Amino acid sequence: MRQLILNLVRNGLEAMPPGGVLAIKTYKDGEELVLTFRDQGKGIEPNILEKLGTPFVTTKKNGTGLGLAVCYSIAARHNAKIQVETCPEGATFSVRFKIPEVSKLQ
Ligand SMILES: Nc1ncnc2c1ncn2[C@@H]1O[C@H](COP(=O)(O)OP(=O)(O)OP(=O)(O)O)[C@@H](O)[C@H]1O
Ligand SMILES: [Mg+2]
Repeated sequence: MRQLILNLVRNGLEAMPPGGVLAIKTYKDGEELVLTFRDQGKGIEPNILEKLGTPFVTTKKNGTGLGLAVCYSIAARHNAKIQVETCPEGATFSVRFKIPEVSKLQ
């Protein structure tokens, strides 16, 4: 989980010039817990959008293109889904966790 947060925070920071704001939020949405990362960058390049999470897909000079691939597999292991929203004002990555049945009873 720490690795997933680190990778998404790094992507958000790398998408913005210094001084940009990276908003990290958690909230409950029905049966899901949501963790979101919203940056004020330029959004995700359209040609890369449908390939997000594919290993070695990168637009960065020194990027490995492994950050998101790792995030997707960590999310899958935690029964979570990653949703991406992008516009010219920035990108938002949401990690949606199913609330386990046990904790709903408490
Ligand atoms: N917050 C974001 N805003 C804009 N583009 C993004 C954002 N996050 C990811 N991307 C795009 O997705 C690509 C893949 O991201 P990923 O984290 O997998 O690799 P990387 O950041 O390029 O390299 P690495 O994580 O290995 O340093 C990035 O190169 C970038 O083009
Ligand atoms: Mg990255």
